Amino acid sequence: MQTIILAAGQGTRMRPLTDRRPKPMLPVAGKPLVAHTAEAAVAAGASELVIVVGYEADDVRTYFREEFAGVPVSFAEQPEQRGTADAVRAGASYLDDGPFAVLNGDALYDHDSLVTLYESAPAVGSFRVDNPSAYGVLHTDETPDGTRVTGVTEKPADPPSNLINTGAYVFPAEAHDWLDVGESERGELELTDVLERACEETTVSAVPFDRWLDVGRPWELLEANEWKLDELERRIDGDVHEDADLRGAVVVEAGVEIDSGVVIEGPALIRSGASVGPNAYVRGRTLISSDATVGHSVEVKNSVLMEGATVGHLSYVGDSILGRDVNFGAGTTVANLRHDDEDVRTLVKGEVVSTGRRKYGVVCGDGVKTGIQTSLNAGVKLGSDARTSPNEPVLRDRTDE
Ligand code: TTP
Repeated sequence: MQTIILAAGQGTRMRPLTDRRPKPMLPVAGKPLVAHTAEAAVAAGASELVIVVGYEADDVRTYFREEFAGVPVSFAEQPEQRGTADAVRAGASYLDDGPFAVLNGDALYDHDSLVTLYESAPAVGSFRVDNPSAYGVLHTDETPDGTRVTGVTEKPADPPSNLINTGAYVFPAEAHDWLDVGESERGELELTDVLERACEETTVSAVPFDRWLDVGRPWELLEANEWKLDELERRIDGDVHEDADLRGAVVVEAGVEIDSGVVIEGPALIRSGASVGPNAYVRGRTLISSDATVGHSVEVKNSVLMEGATVGHLSYVGDSILGRDVNFGAGTTVANLRHDDEDVRTLVKGEVVSTGRRKYGVVCGDGVKTGIQTSLNAGVKLGSDARTSPNEPVLRDRTDE
């Protein structure tokens, strides 16, 4: 089945990580987030991928080129991000006349659930949550053939069910004619209006997803990495000193150097060109991307270091995301726990939001440099190219927002 993947969004809630790359290209266990979506789609039976691009489109085009996992790829340009229905309309010119699937390019789907979705057309993927009011909630009817969707409401105060819309759909062929929707209350052209129409015209199944993750905010990028790093199988191809101790599902790619005294507790992925040690401790689920450096007596826990990030000496990095070419001065320390034991809060587009995580550190955009002995408070964001002074305590965001 032809599958449209939506990857044109600006990812504003993910800033500063999306200042210089589209959200779907953020790294998740060694490949872009959207590559996981595309792989799941192909495994479920996608015969062709139509990727809708917009913001920083070239990154996505360069990664996928003309073929991915054995299926052809086309790119549709959505010049303005006017909403998900508008994005699908941009992609529709590449479709034949049959049913088609639509997936968000910034979500992780488990493969088996997606197979069931593709087999159940017309259908929408649903996921059971405790706090449905924060999502698009499905109205459903139980029938002898399973759960049928009758409608969808965005962020309702009084949710009709605790089944939410995962942004994974298989539409019937007639939906080609339903894509011209009007503007919603929030001024967007929304795919949920097309879903509503499908519910009126035909029977739409709610396919329960076992696992699903919408990756919209920085801590969800950590969660995405936690999910996919848990699937790693141990493989050591790089250069590992005989005094290093690699425990569990550790992947060390060719071209990596692990020096003496290093302890790595898997799951951890250390990518080509990276170096670790001497005497470093890497634990939790950690991704150390290509050409990153974790130096002498540094501890990195449950974090993502993007390409070329350097934590050279005597530093602690916990539950954090470091963008490309970030450089932490010696003794830079990240706090990742509040003393009142509440979940760590952070700012998303100027609003204080709970991350739902007891342990959460900092987010650094590309090119950040910290002075020696900088202490970074839990939940703080440093914008791209931000600088801190030696000994500076950073208690608030250092971004343009
Ligand atoms: P969102 O997560 O709602 O939007 P976004 O990715 O731009 O992020 P933010 O809200 O933080 O700015 O979008 C859901 C999916 O739809 C996502 O995969 C991006 C995609 N999308 C488009 O392709 N075009 C659009 O016009 C919009 C609004 C979203």
